[in-house]
Amino acid sequence: MQKLRLGVNIDHVATVRNARGSAWPDPLRAALLAEAAGADGITAHLREDRRHIRDADMEALKAGIGIPLNFECAATDEMADIVLRLRPHAVCLVPERREERTTEGGLDVAGDQARLTDYIAPLRAAGCRVSMFIGHDPRQIEASARIGAAVVELHTGHYSDLHAEGRQAEAEAELDALRAGARLAASLGLEVHAGHGLTYENVAPVAAIPELHELNIGHFLIGEAIYLGLGPAIEEMRRRMDAAR
Ligand code: PXP
Repeated sequence: MQKLRLGVNIDHVATVRNARGSAWPDPLRAALLAEAAGADGITAHLREDRRHIRDADMEALKAGIGIPLNFECAATDEMADIVLRLRPHAVCLVPERREERTTEGGLDVAGDQARLTDYIAPLRAAGCRVSMFIGHDPRQIEASARIGAAVVELHTGHYSDLHAEGRQAEAEAELDALRAGARLAASLGLEVHAGHGLTYENVAPVAAIPELHELNIGHFLIGEAIYLGLGPAIEEMRRRMDAAR
């Protein structure tokens, strides 16, 4: 089985910084530590409300890191302009609602096919790998393939919640649906990623899905970094991912 890439999401370094309106902790410094610890990519979400990562962070990350930058954003004109200027390695389109605490559901690609086809065309032409953050619904996977996305990232948030609540049978059913989704996506020629809510305790069965190329993990790792330091926290996640394959 191919090695599974680990994308480290550093949004919540910026959350802590912004809580005091100061210049630290610096997301770029965290990204460089993640890179040194073996991260395969850095993921950052420039939200419309700039609640954590800001425009200047994205520019510093693009200029400063030596591994691919995965730019998460909503499919808005403002974000397309920024992406086309920065030309990150990858763009992951996510739904965004101002009142949500985090990205709570997947993107409705099937319901917005014509607009998204036009939206991603210039991003693809600029050389960005375009990813759709979706649930495991076959309709969303098929629509992502139809509009020309290179990648789908399957939302593992529901699985993570069920696992945390000890609802094992339902978590197992959700894993089965994620496995089927990964198989379908790969059969349509899509590269398959997954992420949201992953922890040391729940990562193994997801990491074991053979079609997966990449996991994107943030909140838990930044939390663990408080206890262990960011490098060791990432190394332990890497070890668990590799062990699961
Ligand atoms: N992937 C996507 C598309 C996300 O929006 C997020 C959260 O920002 C993650 C992965 C990482 O989720 P978490 O922070 O729960 O690990």
